[in-house]
Amino acid sequence: MGTGIEALRSTELEAKLIAIRRQLHQYPEVAYEEFETTRAIRKWLEEADIRIVDFPLQTGVVAEIGANNNSGPIIALRADIDALPIQEETGLPYASKIPGKMHACGHDFHTAVILGAAYLLKQQEKTLAGTVRFLFQPAEEKGTGARQLVERGVLEGVHAIFGLHNKPDLEVGAIGIKPGPLMASVDGFEIDVEGIGTHAAIPHAGVDPIVAASQIVTALQSIVSRNVSPLDNAVVSVTTIHGGTTWNVIPDKVVLGGTIRTFQEEVRARIPERLRAIIEGVASAYGANVHLRWFAGPPPVHNDEKLTQLSIDVAKKVGLQVVTPEPSAAGEDFAYYQLKIPGSFIFFGTSGTEEWHHPGFTLDERALLPGAHYFAELAASALKDR
Ligand code: NI
Repeated sequence: MGTGIEALRSTELEAKLIAIRRQLHQYPEVAYEEFETTRAIRKWLEEADIRIVDFPLQTGVVAEIGANNNSGPIIALRADIDALPIQEETGLPYASKIPGKMHACGHDFHTAVILGAAYLLKQQEKTLAGTVRFLFQPAEEKGTGARQLVERGVLEGVHAIFGLHNKPDLEVGAIGIKPGPLMASVDGFEIDVEGIGTHAAIPHAGVDPIVAASQIVTALQSIVSRNVSPLDNAVVSVTTIHGGTTWNVIPDKVVLGGTIRTFQEEVRARIPERLRAIIEGVASAYGANVHLRWFAGPPPVHNDEKLTQLSIDVAKKVGLQVVTPEPSAAGEDFAYYQLKIPGSFIFFGTSGTEEWHHPGFTLDERALLPGAHYFAELAASALKDR
């Protein structure tokens, strides 16, 4: 393996990875609808004589490379494969051909990088110190794909897992790696605030859920300011308020919705009870009733110390520039794998022009080949390390 990303370029592999990424980009499929994507990934694996492992999955693919079946450790590399319900506005010649759908989070890039790593590892299959398992995971954007794969047993026998996300604000050639918390937990809530409807001019005859809901929105902000240590962090955002139909009627119900993000499991565990106490207390002060629905999403992404050090060592070895990334309050369902086995999640520099989920989201394809080399080298090193 050469050193320096320049030495890794201008090969046939790069052309192949660009073609793969562009095909995925033109035909994006959203969570649990990745049927053509799954077919294409299977084809690209089979063409390279890489063995596909059968798990009961509607979409998504699991594959393996190893010298001897089931001898030695198993290391997993994970790519997510789903797109978003966004209308692409990049104007690129290979822009999405599917109206209203777009790879606006760069999961096409992740898939191509991990396929590239598989191609490279296939060339050294006989000398690998164990098995590399590739997870092409559906439905990351729903936050449920990883959990489903874990339930289907894809981590059985796996010792460690690595995953990546492209990072628009890091240059090609840079890689963001840090131990500990990297991405936030993602929980959601809905609150029904129930009052008694009445004429807008005769409010005393009813119970106004709009006034009660307004107080709840404000009061919820005290969770972060008064219940979370200044040394920890959390976000409580109310993002939807629905109630009322016209100007002269006080409605009988308002529905609030929102999300809670944090990097600390202890903080995450305390928030629902504080939220419930506040909404019940405020509602009762106004004579209203509340019903809370809680939607627990992925926990925080928390990187294993030892694997992270290995990720850094390998990055330096292949000539990438290692930076310490700022944690992102976005979520990642990679965290579900890390609940089961040690893992390291890595930000890969792609010199993007827009943030994730933007209709103008782009990335620099010169990051594909270094990505493939890096994850191949990382998996091979992790096997030797065991
Ligand atoms: Ni993403």
